[in-house]
Amino acid sequence: TSENLTKEKADYIYQRLRKQITSIDSEACPQSFVFFVFGASGDLAKKKIYPTLWWLYRDGFLPEHICFVGYARSQLTIEKIFQNADKYMKVHDHERDLYKKFLELNHYVCGSYDKSEDFDKLNHEANKISQHTSAHRFFYLALPPSVYGSVSELISTHCRPGAPGWVRLIVEKPFGKDLQSSNILSGHLSKFYAEEEIYRIDHYLGKEMVQNIMVLRFSNRIFSRVWNRDSVAAVKIIFKEDIGTQGRGGYFDEFGIIRDVIQNHLMQILSIVAMEKPRSTTGEDIRDEKVKVLRCIAPIKSENVVIGQYLGDKESKDSERQLGYLDDAGVPKDSTTPTYAQTILYINNERWDGVPFILRAGKALNEKKAEIRIQFRDVPGGMFDENGSKAPLARDELVVRIQPDEAIYLKVNTKRPGEMSYSIEETELDLTYNERYRGVKLPDAYERLILDVFMGSRINFVRSDELQEAWRIVDPILTEIDQKKLPVVPYKFGAAGLPQAFDAAVKHGYVFT
Ligand code: NDP
Ligand code: BG6
Repeated sequence: TSENLTKEKADYIYQRLRKQITSIDSEACPQSFVFFVFGASGDLAKKKIYPTLWWLYRDGFLPEHICFVGYARSQLTIEKIFQNADKYMKVHDHERDLYKKFLELNHYVCGSYDKSEDFDKLNHEANKISQHTSAHRFFYLALPPSVYGSVSELISTHCRPGAPGWVRLIVEKPFGKDLQSSNILSGHLSKFYAEEEIYRIDHYLGKEMVQNIMVLRFSNRIFSRVWNRDSVAAVKIIFKEDIGTQGRGGYFDEFGIIRDVIQNHLMQILSIVAMEKPRSTTGEDIRDEKVKVLRCIAPIKSENVVIGQYLGDKESKDSERQLGYLDDAGVPKDSTTPTYAQTILYINNERWDGVPFILRAGKALNEKKAEIRIQFRDVPGGMFDENGSKAPLARDELVVRIQPDEAIYLKVNTKRPGEMSYSIEETELDLTYNERYRGVKLPDAYERLILDVFMGSRINFVRSDELQEAWRIVDPILTEIDQKKLPVVPYKFGAAGLPQAFDAAVKHGYVFT
């Protein structure tokens, strides 16, 4: 059946990947790897990094001679770190023995983020643990950006392996706070690392449907022919969350939703949706095209921006929803940081001139959802009006649902079944993954991305010039928001969005179907 076929294919891909990984292991001497987790005591390490390393290890994707070294300032033990992470690891009973082996490969070293002697100690410990001075090394910085500078420098100056061992540095967002600080950080990293040693993670690039955009666009003539201003009326890229800042307010208040989600996740999606066809699937060819299209976008104008901040819903039975953004412990009571934003931008090139790209992101809304909507222009001619149909034809729309429930569906008009006249109904050609690919495991974004780092594939990581362009586009509007020049519209926790944003989208040519 097609279901078995799909499973077979998935297994085949797994096997292929596994081969690539193990061939890294055997191709050169030394054959050892050390994976460092900086900020091992933190939230990201607990929720994502350690669980992902375990799943990759469990599924046989990691090289045989590998060890893991956690590093942070807290006086902890590796046992304590794994106790804290336990509920995220999802270990099944039959995996207990394997899990024990994984735990034995893990170690913890405690030290500062700014003292040379601590990094010397770390280097020494890692050599001892891996029994190699030239093992290849991965450094995952699961740390607040305030310490990226000193940590990246000290790693490079004290923890590089001897030849032929190499280094891969994995950096988490935010990559700076604005164009200037991002450029400073990039400049700093480039002093100590070659660009090919740096893996800037944007975890949206590891999501199945984001990775699918290129295949959908460039392997289907039916789409490639209409993917332009002649056929497309508007593009919407939406991110919605049904949770508030949940105690992360301290971090969030310094950034706001545009820096947290739009500048990175949504802008990355936009660049893949809008770029020209890359010459090949190599990382550099793809990233070249992404940069090229970003260069065609002017900085966002304030008249094309709507921002908002959520209030608690006092009538809600859910105690979390009763709390507004300003009730979050780390948030100043007079904060005007946006938790919701819509920005509309235009791409000044031959393919997209005049087509609005509507990027919308919000926390504390009515649902969790991320999707891309490509809305096509009205059908010209009005043939069906003569048959008494009063309403205009609904526009066709291609929807790529990134989460939850990955799906691609195309909204089309059909004849209402069974009717004698040409009565028209809007329906969907629906590819919902849960139904069509039932049983196929879709790896978590971090699983794919960390595996990419192991394989040395940079396709799904952000290059410094991409980053610079993305900041250039949002920088002026961020300054205006920081200087409180834009009104912040309040909305209630659980709202569908801001009416002002919906109206603006309509004004720019989007039609709600
Ligand atoms: P945490 O706040 O949990 O920080 C990680 C560790 O860094 C802490 O355990 C602490 O370790 C150390 N640390 C915390 N604050 C400081 C400080 N002011 N100065 C020096 N060290 C500090 O961060 P997260 O784990 O949540 O995030 C890590 C990185 O990943 C951040 O850049 C974040 O933006 C990014 N990220 C996080 C996500 C998440 O879901 N958590 C999602 C996406 C990105 P110790 O005191 O033991 O040294
Ligand atoms: C992170 C943001 O990058 O992405 C968070 O900092 C947000 O604010 C998260 O909640 C959303 O990720 P996902 O994968 O749950 O959609």
